[in-house]
Amino acid sequence: MAREFTSVGVVGLGTMGAGIVEVFARNGIDVVAVEISEAALDRGRANLTGSTDRAVARGKLAEADRDALLARVDFAVGLDALHSVDLVIEAVPEHLDLKQRLFAELDRICKPEAILATNTSSLSVTEISVATARPNQVVGIHFFNPAPVMKLVEVVRTVVTSADVVADVEALCARLGKVDVTISDRAGFIANALLFGYLNHAVDMFESRYATREDIDAAMKLGCGLPMGPLALMDLIGLDTAYEILDTMYRRGGRDRRHAPVPLLKQMVTAGLLGRKSGRGFYTYERPGSPKVVPDEQTPTTTEPALTDAVLTTVGIVGSGTMATGIIEVFAKAGYEVVSVTRGAEQSAKVFEAVQTSLNKGVVRGRLSEADRDAALGRINWSATLEHLADVDLVVEAVVEELSVKKALFASLDEICKPGVVLATTTSSLPVIEVAMATQRPADVVGLHFFNPAPAMPLVEIVRTIRTSAETIATAQAVSATVGKTGVVCGDRSGFIVNALLFPYLNDAVRMLEASYSTTDDIDHAMKLGCGYPMGPFELLDVVGLDVALAIQRELYLELREPGFAPAPLLEHLVTAGYLGRKTGRGFRDHTRR
Ligand SMILES: NC(=O)c1ccc[n+]([C@@H]2O[C@H](COP(=O)([O-])OP(=O)(O)OC[C@H]3O[C@@H](n4cnc5c(N)ncnc54)[C@H](O)[C@@H]3O)[C@@H](O)[C@H]2O)c1
Repeated sequence: MAREFTSVGVVGLGTMGAGIVEVFARNGIDVVAVEISEAALDRGRANLTGSTDRAVARGKLAEADRDALLARVDFAVGLDALHSVDLVIEAVPEHLDLKQRLFAELDRICKPEAILATNTSSLSVTEISVATARPNQVVGIHFFNPAPVMKLVEVVRTVVTSADVVADVEALCARLGKVDVTISDRAGFIANALLFGYLNHAVDMFESRYATREDIDAAMKLGCGLPMGPLALMDLIGLDTAYEILDTMYRRGGRDRRHAPVPLLKQMVTAGLLGRKSGRGFYTYERPGSPKVVPDEQTPTTTEPALTDAVLTTVGIVGSGTMATGIIEVFAKAGYEVVSVTRGAEQSAKVFEAVQTSLNKGVVRGRLSEADRDAALGRINWSATLEHLADVDLVVEAVVEELSVKKALFASLDEICKPGVVLATTTSSLPVIEVAMATQRPADVVGLHFFNPAPAMPLVEIVRTIRTSAETIATAQAVSATVGKTGVVCGDRSGFIVNALLFPYLNDAVRMLEASYSTTDDIDHAMKLGCGYPMGPFELLDVVGLDVALAIQRELYLELREPGFAPAPLLEHLVTAGYLGRKTGRGFRDHTRR
């Protein structure tokens, strides 16, 4: 018969512990909540009441339920209060020696049948378990932050954890309304193993001034639909905890350089900038523990003097593919006169039809009036000769992704376009400086990386080469805003912000699958339910196309020579086998069967 858990103990009431207390107490389980000192206990109590009060204020919890919840929690200093609980879960700082000492103590104090669990994110559950005389009753129960919100729990089974303990903990997770994935004891388990390389890379971009904190975060939120950007997430996790997790993953996980904590992290931790919990991390918060960001010296001011007085009315768009078509629609809808240049009348007719169909959809969905549709279509001039771009104020190029083709095009634009015009490329993988140097005016050349489908995706990456002028960037920012997009500025490196952060993570998921650590379904679940991603990595890969993912990953690897970026052999094999994702009916999943 499954074990009954009537009372549980939680040790450490910081970011995670307080949330875990809330999860148990909300589900009718009595909790003994333990801290190291009276002061820490007060902070823990405040963490819990702060969170439940917010839930009441948001109408997610009735006042009476909050009171009942709080009445189920006994607060105590010291571990002795845990002598009769059925399960203890610890959430003390991420240090192996601390956790081992704690487990030895718990083993002495707790009743013999009690299960001892760790919420560690990266340490070896096995190493923690052998500090006790009951390693078969030690298990990892890894909650996600914020624990009351995130649905996922990773249950970590060591080689000695007994099967009935795992089964009982799985049943407990179900009772708590959580979805569990049960896995073996590997650094970072599923979610953190895939998440922390990405987070560290984002910190590296920030440290090297590749982009601002706001732009890095906006890029990942708007480009990938993530609930928060990586730097805001680091602040939520806690920089000290993140540092320890990265450090452990580096040492336990094969010394992958991508897990070596970026030096800035250590500096911030030393300076006491721990994120939300200390009131300041990458961002500044209203007060310690508050989720509310307040302006600080790094906050961009909206009153900055406009660097651009350029009045843009006419935009030339070169190309006839998916991106060009979407970009034509974006500019025409925003009120610009558009000159579309394709290779011939046939292509122009196709693009016209595609734009019309897309605008019609807007009308059917009630997002666009018929008059606005007709006006937008009327603003587009169709041409097959570049000479028609002689008078435009901006050119956006979206032709085939081949450097020689783009360079030749930019050389022609240089001869045709009037001086001072901004020349933009939508390349997603080629160096923008290469096309800039094909002209005599590299200061006027910029990357404008739209996302697919351009009319729907709210993000544009504005790529600054080492020759791009500040005026050109200002114009690109102004144009992005006028067409209703958020423009984020970044350097001219392979993958810009979004692809450079996204694809290595997808590649890591393929490696994890290849290593048989987990399944496609569990990995997808872990990222969706543990980290709030809109799609799991394999779902996304099947949508993006495995061939596209492989090509981007290869580019990243070639430019940065980072061993961890080498494309996963399984990805290469699937592409070779023609399993490219949804478009061929099969990728990581078979889409032909329903
Ligand atoms: N922060 C996250 O997003 C996150 C997510 C999942 C798991 N975790 C894991 O949870 C654990 C705790 O992380 P956190 O971010 O909550 O840390 P934290 O620093 O916010 O909280 C740790 C708490 O433990 C208390 N503590 C320290 N030593 C103690 C002792 N000997 N006895 C009792 N209490 C003690 C501290 O006073 C503090 O309140 C770590 O193992 C971490 O890896 C963290």
